[in-house]
This record gives sequence, structure tokens and C-alpha cells, in this order.
Amino acid sequence: MYENWEELEESIKQCEKCKLCKNRTNIVFGAGNKEAEVMLIGEGPGADEDREGIPFVGKAGQLMNKALAGLGINREELYIANIVKCRPPSNRVPEQDEATACLDYLRNQVLLVKPKIIVLLGSTALKNILGKEYSITAARGKWIEKKDIMYMPTWHPAALLRDENKKIEFWNDLKEVRNKWKK
Ligand code: URA
Repeated sequence: MYENWEELEESIKQCEKCKLCKNRTNIVFGAGNKEAEVMLIGEGPGADEDREGIPFVGKAGQLMNKALAGLGINREELYIANIVKCRPPSNRVPEQDEATACLDYLRNQVLLVKPKIIVLLGSTALKNILGKEYSITAARGKWIEKKDIMYMPTWHPAALLRDENKKIEFWNDLKEVRNKWKK
């Protein structure tokens, strides 16, 4: 556990714990307010994120930013991170050894930010944070409390690009989060 953000980021820049390090352009550490009450957790960087070193800057991220803005939330108010910090080839789902190797970094980020609410974006985030027994279809939209943190599982924004019908549920889930957070 690093107490210091710079040391944590530096250790990830040097990380070779899994094979994803081989093809990375940049690590995608995380971004936003390091004292945020709300944290968003995605899956892993795509091509745009790998190039820029910032989470959720591609198409899915832009859609998510729009939804947040529509609810009066600026993404800079939140802290945003991913299960894996390096891009999986062809945007495949991170393999279990990759997610497991990377998870301590995310745990460290959560310990430093101390969020009250964590939004789990999609199945990879849900299963790696809360457990393999959870299914995103069943769990989305429902609050789960664990160790003084309220978790809200919802669709990954990329799923909205594939299925328009998920947009309204995603919006409603984020609205739930805003209402709990800003009440
Ligand atoms: N998808 C993710 O899960 N994370 C990102 O940072 C970008 C796309």
C-alpha cells in the first residue's frame, strides 16, 4: 500500500506483473478528484485511452460524459479508474490473471480516495470487485452495501453503443447515484 499518489503511479508505470505491459503505450492510471465521494470503475483502457493515458476518452467515455453532464455532474468531480491499467489487445476482456495482478493498485486507489459510493461500470468491474457470483443483468440498478461503501452496478458505457435500450437504464442508475450523493 502506497500512502502517496506519486509513488503509486510510478510503481504502475514500471509494472511488469502481467503480459499487458508488453504492448502498452501509456498506463491509464486514473483521473479526476482524488478526494471524490463518488468513484467510477471501468474495465480497462481502449486504444484512445492507451494513446492518451486518460480513462474514458474514447467513444464510450464521451457518451458517459454526456450522461453525467445531463445530470449536472462534471466528470472532474469524480474519480475514474479501471480494473486493469494497461490496454488488453483488441479491447478484449482482461483475463483473470491480468485483473488479479492489477487489482491491488485499484484497491490502493480506493483506500486513498475513500469514496462513499462506487459505480461499477459493467460485468468486469462488478465481478472483480464484488465477486464472481454477481451478474450485471441481475445486479444493475440495485444498491449493494459492503464495508461502508455503497456500490451501484450499471452497464458499461460501451454496451450503450451496442444497445440503445440500455441508455435509459444507465441514465436512471446514474441519477440514483447523484440523488444519494447530492441529497
Ligand atoms: N472502457 C473502460 O472500461 N475504461 C476506459 O478507460 C475506457 C473504455
